[in-house]
Amino acid sequence: MMEYTFSKPETDEDYEALYQVMDAVFGDEDVRGITRRFVEHHPGMNKEHFFVVKHGDKAVAGLVLVPQEWKLGEAELKVAEMGCVGTDPEHRRKGVQWILNNEFDKYAKENGFDLCALAGIPYFYRQFGYQYAVELDYSTELKVEDLPNMDTGIKVERFEETHIDVADEILTKTQERYLVRSVRTKDIWGMQQTTGTYGGEPYEADVFTRGGGIAGYYRYVVDDEKKTINIKELGISENASAEEIAAVIRKLASEKGLAELKTGLSHMDEFSKYLISRGAKTNRPYAWQVKIIDLPGFLSKIIPVLEQRIENSEYTGLSKDITINFWKYAVKMKIEEGKITSIEKAFGEKDRTIGFNPYVFTKLALGYKSRMELEKMYPDFRVQGDSGGLIDVMFPKQPSYIHYSY
Ligand SMILES: CC(C)(COP(=O)(O)OP(=O)(O)OC[C@H]1O[C@@H](n2cnc3c(N)ncnc32)[C@H](O)[C@@H]1OP(=O)(O)O)[C@@H](O)C(=O)NCCC(=O)NCCS
Repeated sequence: MMEYTFSKPETDEDYEALYQVMDAVFGDEDVRGITRRFVEHHPGMNKEHFFVVKHGDKAVAGLVLVPQEWKLGEAELKVAEMGCVGTDPEHRRKGVQWILNNEFDKYAKENGFDLCALAGIPYFYRQFGYQYAVELDYSTELKVEDLPNMDTGIKVERFEETHIDVADEILTKTQERYLVRSVRTKDIWGMQQTTGTYGGEPYEADVFTRGGGIAGYYRYVVDDEKKTINIKELGISENASAEEIAAVIRKLASEKGLAELKTGLSHMDEFSKYLISRGAKTNRPYAWQVKIIDLPGFLSKIIPVLEQRIENSEYTGLSKDITINFWKYAVKMKIEEGKITSIEKAFGEKDRTIGFNPYVFTKLALGYKSRMELEKMYPDFRVQGDSGGLIDVMFPKQPSYIHYSY
């Protein structure tokens, strides 16, 4: 019987074989194009990041690892995003995604990644240890005629390479409200600009100008059939208000004969809030599926964030030893005068005052749910005694949003 074997592409033929897997799996969705852009344009990716399973000589399944940086507060996290996951229909249900996932995890561990993340299909990835933990796929919809009608003096021009620096400043400012957010390097801005794609999909982009300054920028797609303008990303500088930008978009959309405005921005975004105040319809978002690779390591990485939170709270200057019992093992944290001086993994711990299912903890750690929400949902996630307040201070619920960085 022929075996399934793991490999990474070496030659042009190997890459072509990977593209053919994507064709066989995704048909007209052009995942070949997405994979190929990673191969040809992504400044931080090389053959290491393409994972293939062969049956004999034939490539039959694949996925990609898109390296990126996210931030949690001011802590920098190295993230391995899993994408373009597929198995040729003739080789499904044979466990080849297990082979790929094991290799993916191994690579992520060996290369110092803090999180694995993906924006994938429901349920499937739970078996590999992923948890829904960061909001994803927002939608806010409003009729173009419900946007404000006013003169703003704002002009619109094509987004060029030269606009990247200021757009990046606007984006970084926009991201301040989010706990978990992505870092888009200038190289990635450049790649998106050159390829005209955002998160794997084509887009157009304009900048808003007023009196020689930049008032904002947006990335969008026009759907002529549905008469809709889909806004993928939008940033407003201090030079303009959400209302003014909405008025400019109304004018532009009307000129193109469009009737609907749809955005994928977080509902916490200023522009979304403005649309919602005008009666926009919002969805229930989906979520990124995330896996923390090494929990004690992750906690060590976010020490500055935890210390800051303690300092800003009633626990300022606290000295206390905390044991978080993750059931399989425990993490012992020493806090001395508000500073976390050690984080250690321990086995056979008897103290179960703070008992956290480690999978569920991902949701708490990334601010997706509050401690109390999780306690209501999961009997194996609980705080006894009087440590609840401190846990709430160290791990508050807070909105997050990932602006694509590829
Ligand atoms: C989803 C997909 C990648 C699964 O590939 P596969 O090679 O059949 O997966 P495996 O055989 O390694 O299955 C691993 C496990 O998942 C289960 N499984 C397979 N497809 C599943 C699905 N769609 N939903 C839930 N579980 C599934 C298998 O039964 C197996 O479980 P087991 O280990 O308990 O037996 C494949 O069906 C595919 O390419 N689908 C179309 C593209 C797609 O949806 N990609 C994901 C984009 S995010």
